[in-house]
Order: sequence, then structure tokens, then C-alpha cells
Amino acid sequence: MTETLTITKPDDWHLHLRDGDLMRAVLPYTAAQFARAIIMPNLVPPVVTTEDAKSYRDRIFSSIPENVDFTPLMTAYLTDNTDPEDLRAGISEKVFVGVKMYPANATTNSAHGVTDWRKTERVLAVLEETNTPLLVHGEVTDQDVDIFDREKVFIDEILLPLSKKFSTLKIVLEHVTTKDGVDFVKEGGKNIAATITPHHLVINRNEIFRGGIRPHLYCLPIAKREKHRLALRAAAVSGKECFFLGTDSAPHPISSKESECGCAGIFNAPTALEIYAQVFDEENALDRFEKFASFNGPNFYNLPVNDHKITLSKQGSESPDLIEISSTGDQLMPFLSGKELAWKVI
Ligand code: DOR
Ligand code: ZN
Repeated sequence: MTETLTITKPDDWHLHLRDGDLMRAVLPYTAAQFARAIIMPNLVPPVVTTEDAKSYRDRIFSSIPENVDFTPLMTAYLTDNTDPEDLRAGISEKVFVGVKMYPANATTNSAHGVTDWRKTERVLAVLEETNTPLLVHGEVTDQDVDIFDREKVFIDEILLPLSKKFSTLKIVLEHVTTKDGVDFVKEGGKNIAATITPHHLVINRNEIFRGGIRPHLYCLPIAKREKHRLALRAAAVSGKECFFLGTDSAPHPISSKESECGCAGIFNAPTALEIYAQVFDEENALDRFEKFASFNGPNFYNLPVNDHKITLSKQGSESPDLIEISSTGDQLMPFLSGKELAWKVI
């Protein structure tokens, strides 16, 4: 008999939905697997104010396929000049569930990000006071720091002093990629957590160069050495409350990926849950999958867990081929496109 697994419907605690045609092309994949998702605010221009977030949320709601139940959880893009009182209002109106800190120029559409975290202290104080999580892209931007060391240096130089100064602030180290990051989170208090992506559980840095350069495996933070991948797998399957699911699904048209200067981002939404399930299965930890996928995130964000269930079956599936973005003529290449996967959401 085919093995099945029924769990509380999961949420995606880190998602790039984009806007317009691209959003309409990718949203159905996330809405098919997840009840809610944290929507990253790195649009052009970014989602900075409460008004920006309300209007983006309206555009998302009008793109959700009919009869599909999906709730976007909005975040603000922190800049050096963010108005703390606007954020306070957005938080109290329940528009924002979190605030995203991108170090300026760390990644895609982060030019308006924070140049020095100390400039944002008044905002951080509001977040701490209102128990609102700060979501951090944990990489320094100094080009003299080796790209594979940027997460560790960020932890040492920014995250440690920031979390010491704001000792009760809830912080999510987004898409953690290193053992150093895992250790930082494990050693932190109850207010420190991390999301883990499917791709960082599956690939290490060698995969980006296997037989040639593989632009569709390029993301930021970049995949690291094997020892880091193993530390991420151990963290994900540990059942510890501080680790939860965040896909960082980040679609870019193929023309922007396969280019002289290709964009960072891996589009994993079509098979994110299947890949996570496979990892938990390989680690003999399917009994802890629900904690990672469905409980730890809402508990950290002080939100109720979902009441619906979903079932996965170990019947095998295939990651889809190219996906059309209507009207532009461009396409998306999903993570592990065309590869066999063990599990399938049914
Ligand atoms: O690889 C990435 N892509 N990392 C990020 O932090 C941003 C994302 C995107 O928006 O494309
Ligand atoms: Zn991201």
C-alpha cells in the first residue's frame, strides 16, 4: 500500500510573490500547498508603508484563484528612513505581521535597504514593544568579504550586537544557510528563530557548478559547503520550535536567470512540500514534519495553526517543466524541473 502522510495544512513563512503577470503565474502553486504565506516586500518600488502594503495585499487578493483559500501575511521593507509611527499603525491595524531588513544591496531589489542597522533603532524599538518579528536577510554586503562567509560575518558583526541591544525582539534569521546560523538560533532565546528553504536542504555549493554553471541554482544566500547543508537538515528535522518552513521561492523569468549577469533566486513553489517531505523521509523524521511545516511558524508568529489538513502520498511525482508567464512570452524554470520526486501532495 502506498504510504501517505496527513498533516495540518502548512504555511510558507518566506515567499516572493512579485506582482502583475508574474504573480498571477506563480500564486496558484503556493495557494495549492499553503494556507498562508509571508509575502516579501522587495518589489520595485518596495513595499515600505502601510498604504503600500494594503494596496499590494489588494492586488494579491484579486489574483487568488477562485474557490482557493489563501491568506497573504504582509511585511514592510525596512529603510533607513522608515517612519516608526506608520509601522506602528500598520501593526495595530493588523496589516503587517513582520518587518524585513535587507542590508542595502545584499540581494535582488534591496537597493533601498538598510545601510546601518543603528539608523533603524526607533523602528526596532516599536517592533520589540509590539512583539512584531524582525525578519533579516543575514548577509553583509561588503564585497571584500567572501560570498560564502557573508552569513557568518553578518551574525558576528550585526546580529549579535543587534539582538543584544534589543534582547526581547523577535528575530527570524531568514533562509539560514550555515551551521553558524543554526548554532546562533539554537543558542538564542525563545525570541530567535530561522526559516529553512527546500533548496538549501538539497543542494550544496558544488551543485551550482556540476558539469557547468547552473544559473537556476543560484540564490542568495548562496548554497554553502556540505557540512552546512547537513547542519540545516539536522536543524529542520530536529522538531525544535525555532526552525520552520520558509521556501524563499523567488521566481525570475528565464531570460533574467540565463544572462550575462543572472538574478539570484530559486523558484521552488510548485514542489516545495514534496521536496521537504522527501528530506524528512530520508532523515527518518516524518513524525516531525508537521511541527516544522505547520506548527512552529504560527507559534512563533503568535497566530493560530490552520484547521484544514493536507495529505501527501509516496506515489512519486515529477517536478514540472517550464511554466509560462502569460503575456510576456517569458517562462519560469522550477527547481528540480523534470526530476522525479518521491512524494506528491494529493
Ligand atoms: O535568491 C534570492 N532571491 N535571495 C533573496 O534574498 C531575494 C530573492 C529574490 O527576490 O529574487
Ligand atoms: Zn527571500
